[in-house]
Amino acid sequence: MDASDWNARYDTSELIWKGEPNQFLPLEVADLAPGTALDLACGEGRNAVWLAKQGWIATGVDFSDVGVEKGRALAAENGVEATWVVADVTTWEPPANGYDLVAVFYLQLAAEERRASMITAVRALGVGGTLVLVGHDLLNLTEGYGGPQNPSFLLTAEDIIDDLTAAEVLLDVELVTEKSGRVERSVSTDDGERAAIDTLVRVRRVA
Ligand SMILES: C[S@@+](CC[C@H](N)C(=O)[O-])C[C@H]1O[C@@H](n2cnc3c(N)ncnc32)[C@H](O)[C@@H]1O
Repeated sequence: MDASDWNARYDTSELIWKGEPNQFLPLEVADLAPGTALDLACGEGRNAVWLAKQGWIATGVDFSDVGVEKGRALAAENGVEATWVVADVTTWEPPANGYDLVAVFYLQLAAEERRASMITAVRALGVGGTLVLVGHDLLNLTEGYGGPQNPSFLLTAEDIIDDLTAAEVLLDVELVTEKSGRVERSVSTDDGERAAIDTLVRVRRVA
């Protein structure tokens, strides 16, 4: 899906993801002191706004200007401020000073673009900063609920670790892997609770 496809999807008065943070975000940042945070592919801004509410100085970036405007409105509704940027995360040049947290949630890209987006994510990360990626795992296709049905847009923790290793070499940085694997996300459906299978990778930049 390109930016105009996402714009069409977001072109509704309702929030598609209801304005609540993804269930893994609060858990993954619970042990971090609020600092600067980047939400890469922020969509309608639910995660950036939640981070801002927790005291993070948040920036959301997405190539859908409709999504970004909804993020801006969600921030205003919640009485918080955040910086909003309309840009393609495969080519965006982050500011040089480096974020304390980079969050990448459910960015659905084919392998080459995904790698470019992970290079952007690492480029944006300050020394000592944490990168958290959550995405739809390949196994979800056969054993989980919902999510994209085209395997080209699904991923594994190994794919992300490979991308991050390439970014380390390219950018001459050092990352330590803190978490890398599959997690189950509960989804409420008309037929009760179902489990979706996500990939979760968390790394810290140490040099
Ligand atoms: C499934 S949504 C997830 C949004 C948000 N991270 C969340 O969890 O609510 C995927 C988002 O990725 C964005 N996206 C996809 N490709 C992108 C790209 N190359 N550059 C910037 N944003 C992109 C889309 O516009 C969309 O908002």
